[in-house]
Amino acid sequence: MSHDLTVLSGATALAEAAAERFVVAAGDAIRAHGRFVVALSGGSTPRAAFERLATAPMIARVDWAHVHVVWGDERCVPPDDAASNYRMAHDALLRHVPVPATNVHRIPGDVDPAAAAAAYEATLRELLATPSGPPRATPNRRIDLVLLGLGADGHTASLFLSSAGIDERVRWAIPSRADVVPQRRITLTVPVINAAAEVLFLVSGTAKADVLRRVLDGPRRTAELPAQAIAPANGQLRWYVDAPAAAKLAGVPAPPGSAPSDRAHGSSPP
Ligand code: 6PG
Repeated sequence: MSHDLTVLSGATALAEAAAERFVVAAGDAIRAHGRFVVALSGGSTPRAAFERLATAPMIARVDWAHVHVVWGDERCVPPDDAASNYRMAHDALLRHVPVPATNVHRIPGDVDPAAAAAAYEATLRELLATPSGPPRATPNRRIDLVLLGLGADGHTASLFLSSAGIDERVRWAIPSRADVVPQRRITLTVPVINAAAEVLFLVSGTAKADVLRRVLDGPRRTAELPAQAIAPANGQLRWYVDAPAAAKLAGVPAPPGSAPSDRAHGSSPP
């Protein structure tokens, strides 16, 4: 597993870069094995990328008929609820692009969480042609791109510090409980995410600078920082972050005009 860090100047550039990566990853996957399975994330940072992707030049660059949409997590609310990750993706992206409705695999947040997780796992197993056993890190049997955000507490998807979900190694989707409302969630588990061909974290804003430093530069403590458990075994891990979020990373030059830091070495903003 390798991962790389790209520092963008700000939230707009981050959204643009993420949309561009989606376009390129989709084209590569469709050329290579006939389809592109993408797991969308909730949160405001991914939303900005979806909105950029839903603009005229970008839309025409994706062969939407061969795209399948799944989710990394969902809140246990109806699909038209303002807190729904499905609704956010629908409003920001899906209603604007010609992805077939049969290719949109919503997590049923409006039913009992245990039943919803089981139903979503069955959907994923059928989509990825893996009726039983662990996820396989092979083309057409794994998610091609998982988009993830990073919470200020180190959570990602709905893998939270307080939930046991971070240790789940058998089930592909489980009920989870967030520390913020809406608390009841459904989340993909670490093995499914780590079987992906690519995981792309999108992190923006000064409020994420501390947690990003802990996740990327600090000791590995997955119980405290669930995002550290994300390490694709046979795939690419990419971090797209903006300069405010990167401000405390080792080796990332401070943005022009900011206070000098003790950072040593590493990648520099493009
Ligand atoms: C959710 C997301 C969650 C989100 C992070 C970051 O359902 O809310 O899955 O993991 O990505 O909390 O959110 P922001 O990008 O809005 O900070």
